[in-house]
Parts: sequence; C-alpha cells; structure tokens
Amino acid sequence: MYSFDDMIERRHTHSVKWDETERFFGVKDVLPMWVADMDFQAPPAVLEALAKRVEHGVFGYTAIPLSLKEAIRDWMQQRHQWSVEPYWMSFCTGVVPALATAIEAFTSPHDRIVVFPPVYPPLFQLVQKNDRQLVTCPLLLTEKGYAINWADLQEKLKGAKMLLLCSPHNPGGRVWTKEELTTLGTLCLENGVIVVSDEIHADLTLPPCRHTPFASTDEAFADISVTCIAPTKTFNLAGLQAAVAIIPNSSMKKQFDAVQQRQGFFTLNAFAVAGTEAAYRYGSDWLDALLEYIKENIDRTCSFINASFPRVRAMSPEATYLVWIDCRGLGIPEQQLKQLLLHKGKIAVEMGSKFGEEGRGFIRLNVACHRQTLESAFQRLAVAFEGL
Ligand SMILES: Cc1ncc(COP(=O)(O)O)c(C=O)c1O
Repeated sequence: MYSFDDMIERRHTHSVKWDETERFFGVKDVLPMWVADMDFQAPPAVLEALAKRVEHGVFGYTAIPLSLKEAIRDWMQQRHQWSVEPYWMSFCTGVVPALATAIEAFTSPHDRIVVFPPVYPPLFQLVQKNDRQLVTCPLLLTEKGYAINWADLQEKLKGAKMLLLCSPHNPGGRVWTKEELTTLGTLCLENGVIVVSDEIHADLTLPPCRHTPFASTDEAFADISVTCIAPTKTFNLAGLQAAVAIIPNSSMKKQFDAVQQRQGFFTLNAFAVAGTEAAYRYGSDWLDALLEYIKENIDRTCSFINASFPRVRAMSPEATYLVWIDCRGLGIPEQQLKQLLLHKGKIAVEMGSKFGEEGRGFIRLNVACHRQTLESAFQRLAVAFEGL
C-alpha cells in the first residue's frame, strides 16, 4: 500500500543532509549517510493536510486546537499504552528546545545533570552551554548492546538535579526495558532527581521490541518526569519543527510554561499544527510499513558489514534507523578513519567521538534511505576499508 521505493531527489531543497554535506565535511560529492532524517516522503495524509492548508492561502497566527492534543493522546494510548491528558502537553519547536527549556525550568547554574554517553550530542552540549555541571555515567558495552552501569549511576545521582535520558537510546539503538526504567526511576526518586526523557525515537522501535515510556511505568515516576516526543523523526517532518513536552506534574508544567513565556514562545506554525495532527491521526499504517522497510535496510547493512569486514562490527539497533558500527578493531585513529571514509570511500557518516569520548572508534550510519542509496553506501564502505 505504501512504497518507499521512489527515489526522491533531495538536492537543491536546502536539505541539511544533502545540500550542506560539503560545508560540514569539506569534501565534494560524498554520499550523505549522516544527519538523522529520512530520504522518504511524509505519509500521504500529511501531504494532503499540508496541501489543503496551502490551498487555503491565509497563514495568520495559528492556535493549537484541542483536536491536535486529542490526536496525540490517542496515538500515545494506541502505540505506547500510556494515557496522557491534553493538559499535560506543552508544545515546542523541537525536542532540543524542549530539553533546553526543561534545563532552564528545573535547574540552576552549576547544578549537576547526569547523561549516559555515548549519546546524542546536544544532550551534553545543552548542559554545558547552560552553565550546568555535566555528570557522565558511561554506558557499558555488552554482548547484548549497551547497558546502564547501576553502581556508577547510584554514585552519580547523589547531589544531581536532573537526568537526561535518551529512550530509545541514540546511538546504539537500545530500547530500555520496563525493568531497567523501574530501577532507574527508583534511584532518581530516592535522590530527588528529575528525569527528562527524550523519547523522539520511540515510534521507531522495531517489532518485536516494545518501547515503554518512562513516565508510564509508575505514577511516582510520572510525577518527576518530562517526556519529550515529536512527529518529526517518526514521519520525517523535521523541517516543520514540532515537539511536545508531556508533563503530568502540574506545578512542573507551570514552571516549564513560565520559561516558554519568558522566551516569548506561544505557539507552533500553521504547517506544524496541520502536519502533526494528520500524522498522529492517520499515520499508523504508514509507520508500520516504514518500519518493515527500515528493518530490511538494517538487516542488509548488518549482514553486509559483518560479513565483509571481520574487524568491524555493526550493532543491530532495537529502534531507530541509525546503525552504530564498532570500527575499533581496525586499529586506526578516528581522524584516519574519517579521511578514508570521506576521501577514499566518498561517504559521510557521523564519527563516534561526536557522541562523547566513549564513542571514539565507532561510526553511525543512517540507513533511512532508498535501497539503491544503501547499495551505493556499501560499495563506498568497501572502497574505504579496502586493504585494512
Ligand atoms: C535523541 C534525539 N533527540 C532530539 C533530536 C532532535 O530533535 P528536534 O529536531 O526535535 O530538536 C534528535 C535528532 O536526531 C535525536 O536523535
């Protein structure tokens, strides 16, 4: 019913991934497999809603209707079995802005904020840029993927104000289990630590794995939580800029909203409102089809890499379209790896150290692309790693 096999030309659309690669990497004609968006069109229902909005032609100040909040409520209930109330929702232009607002609302300069590296870079950059103290609790790399170091976490939470959780985790693609989230929540409760859970990748959890929203595991956890979700990763709408912070604790919600008011932020743009509601209301079947396509791309990628390069190990993610690849076995410094990929292989990927020192020696490959693009990426990786 839905096809992801149309090759859409993204060059000359001001795409960060396709039009800015040369600026970011300093090399011409490299295949962009880096920034986390997809090369697929948004669901037909979203395209229709946006076209209808354009056709109307008047783009005045736009309110956030109750129907949008209800669409989000129903989505969270149906896809994640979490009952959220419309009045728990604060809208933001992105998850990163939501995280920044939460940091400002619930912590003060020099407060300690815990993160789990290797992790999506803005999580630690926001802490540092807001003059908070970054406390790292590095994940342990096990045979089954990344795991939380509980003894270390117990120490690091002492005196901390906030924990920034990435759930599912980027990079590495771990989907935290209910048991892990319960242990984490219990420790945070004991230490009076607020949990800000970035769940932007939740909808991209690959069956049979299931995502559990942190705040849904226990009412007491909901009371110390901010859950950040967005239609942007799920439906490839990053250019529309929309996200939601779900805050069940009413006094925390007031504090969060007060910061947004201080910043002069009140509402989303007209396209974000129309696109988000259509996506959550009508996007479920499209998402199921997308996940199948992505899963096939992930399987092909892991098979190709693990069979072709014995000293490289691609980790199959439980969520997301980002494959985290351990290149430490090649025994070359990151700078040399980057040069080989960019200049010899002509492929742009995210280098692991961007996600913290713990990521050095890894690369992150975005496989949310057409199969032909994926094949081209394989050929380029083979050229880059030739002779190693
Ligand atoms: C974990 C995580 N959080 C947030 C974002 C970005 O969110 P937004 O574009 O809504 O600011 C990304 C994008 O890759 C991400 O991976």
